[in-house]
Amino acid sequence: MQKVQFVETVLRDANQSLMATRLPYEKFEPILETMDRAGYYAVECWGGATFDVCLRYLNEDPWERLRKIRAKMPNTKLQMLLRGQNILGYKHYPDDVVRKFVQHAVKNGIDIIRIFDALNDPDNLKVAVEETVKCGAIASGAISYTTSPVHTLANYVKLVKELAAMGCSTICIKDMAGIMGPQEAYDLVSAIKDAVDLPVDVHTHCTTGLAFMTLLKSVEAGADIIDTATPPFSGGTSQASTDTLSYALKQLGYQVDLDDAVLKEVADYFKPVRDGFIADGTLMPKSMATDTQCLTYQVPGGMLSNLLSQLKTMNALDRLDEALAETPRVRKDLGYPPLVTPTSQMVGVQAVTNVLQGERYKKVSNEVRAYCRGEYGRTPAPIDPEVQKQILGDEKPLTGRYADTLEPAFEKTKAELGDTARSDEDVLSYIAFPQLAEAFFEKRKADEEKVVKYTIEEA
Ligand code: CO
Repeated sequence: MQKVQFVETVLRDANQSLMATRLPYEKFEPILETMDRAGYYAVECWGGATFDVCLRYLNEDPWERLRKIRAKMPNTKLQMLLRGQNILGYKHYPDDVVRKFVQHAVKNGIDIIRIFDALNDPDNLKVAVEETVKCGAIASGAISYTTSPVHTLANYVKLVKELAAMGCSTICIKDMAGIMGPQEAYDLVSAIKDAVDLPVDVHTHCTTGLAFMTLLKSVEAGADIIDTATPPFSGGTSQASTDTLSYALKQLGYQVDLDDAVLKEVADYFKPVRDGFIADGTLMPKSMATDTQCLTYQVPGGMLSNLLSQLKTMNALDRLDEALAETPRVRKDLGYPPLVTPTSQMVGVQAVTNVLQGERYKKVSNEVRAYCRGEYGRTPAPIDPEVQKQILGDEKPLTGRYADTLEPAFEKTKAELGDTARSDEDVLSYIAFPQLAEAFFEKRKADEEKVVKYTIEEA
């Protein structure tokens, strides 16, 4: 009997895709011990945008969040999402920072690090994978799924073999936009299974409505693990429902070791939590809908909401269709990057700018300029030479690995921060998001002083 295992995403990807990662720790703390008994392969709970949002909006120390989850879930593997050489930020970091980050993620409780690169450039994955393996954690090598003339089965298989050679213990097909169809999934999972002897995890989103069919065909092709979300936080831009897939796969004769009663408890818990976020406007009904347009534009859920809010700020919501039509053109010019953080933001902002400026590439962000210089790695196809010339002028693009040009930063930053950083984790928060971390450190100190004062007055 073929066994199918589940990664529950409510704490990270479902939370990120449906409500911009605004779920505070105290809203899910009461259910963690129950979730620990569900029988998930893993709970994805950290990384991605959670780190940024903890510091920026929730006044939470992301490291402390991880430790608290770890303490409440001793029996379940905890998974995080890491953007390879970008760690959790939007630029490349030197290798020593990547290694330190991985070490501390594992030390604070992470078991599985899913490592991806927006461009699928192995040079951007290898240090994170190597360090994860060295720390004794599971390195899950992810391929950022997209379609383009250069994203062929053969090229994906080539990448998967490189990931296996690097030491990855599982392979994840990361379909961040929910654009992978059932036949494409069947073919890709089959090709990966033929090429390497590793468990395959399929990650997709319900955005286009394909997810259930895609996951089923993936399982038929031999996928070992699927990513799903508890029903109240499933569907729309999030993952397919855990409980539904458990039900359907059991009916089809697959072995699913999930406890239905516990799954129900988890769903019952999250329903009013979700309703609260719908009531206060954090979770927009639009995110729960099905949108087949994404199949044309390949716009991931998070990117669509970014496009909308960008156009709204510019008072140009009526230009959405034009911006959506410009997106694949920009993508082609830039060598068909998969649309995932940070390339999704870069391509999206550029598409909106091109439309609103009335002239293409008249204004270009620093990120797109850096991308054209080669600082994000090798692009899947070459960048359109004319666009590259227009953006860079006489500047020559880089050859070789960008991270090799970066000076080690951890010890230097640690020395600079002095007492401001209380731990290596603080130093890493600061390196990842300097302004946010600084503001957080100040607030933390002020809050503690308040508590001390209050206690003294009480006494
Ligand atoms: Co995702």
